[in-house]
Amino acid sequence: MRVVHPDHPLIAHKLTYLRDKRTDSPTFRRLAEELMTLLAYEATRDVRVEPFEIETPVAPTTGIKLSNPKPLIVPILRAGLGMLEGMVRLLPSAEVGFLGMQRDEETLAITTYANRLPADLSGRQVYALDPMLATGGSMADALRFLIDRGASDITAVCLLAAPEGIERLQREMADVAPPVTLVVGAIDERLNEHGYIVPGLGDAGDRLYGVV
Ligand code: PRP
Ligand code: URA
Repeated sequence: MRVVHPDHPLIAHKLTYLRDKRTDSPTFRRLAEELMTLLAYEATRDVRVEPFEIETPVAPTTGIKLSNPKPLIVPILRAGLGMLEGMVRLLPSAEVGFLGMQRDEETLAITTYANRLPADLSGRQVYALDPMLATGGSMADALRFLIDRGASDITAVCLLAAPEGIERLQREMADVAPPVTLVVGAIDERLNEHGYIVPGLGDAGDRLYGVV
């Protein structure tokens, strides 16, 4: 698995305000979208394209356009939904599928409670979005799910990651056929005893949409 950690002052600036506990939900939602758009620039570096003939007002020329099938974006509910708009702004012709996953806050075990995805992802380039990679359990399950349906290459995008989560994904993705890339806004220090990222930003879903 390739790990991409873009080093950009705007990403660090926006992440600082996202982490701040004084940041309210409307601002948190805006920042999550903006951060996704900045990370999307790196995440889509290998998006599939093909030559495309056009004529400018001056001369014919060959450009490029996105290939078919179009990329599939998969926000992992709930918190991944906060990144969706920032991604489709850059890739408006992409399709969107949904995976709902919930971490038990006591055992840290993952339950998949929803999936609305094409049954066959053969040949599809997939972007999985989740702001938090903590133990890595949710993203590892999501990636397995996408690989089992035939995704041909997968890019996971997370705003924050713990080293423990990255190591777990590295281990679990070591033996899979499709190439997997992880794009992260920041790699934090560690997990605490409750499985929360330190310093992190708290519970991303709650900060986006309220406490459930
Ligand atoms: C959060 C987050 C990830 C997961 C990360 O979701 O959005 O999906 O926890 O933790 P992990 O790496 O240890 O699996 P949560 O389960 O709290 O659900 P929510 O998005 O509905 O709030
Ligand atoms: N899920 C979150 O929302 N935050 C964490 O720090 C860990 C898991």
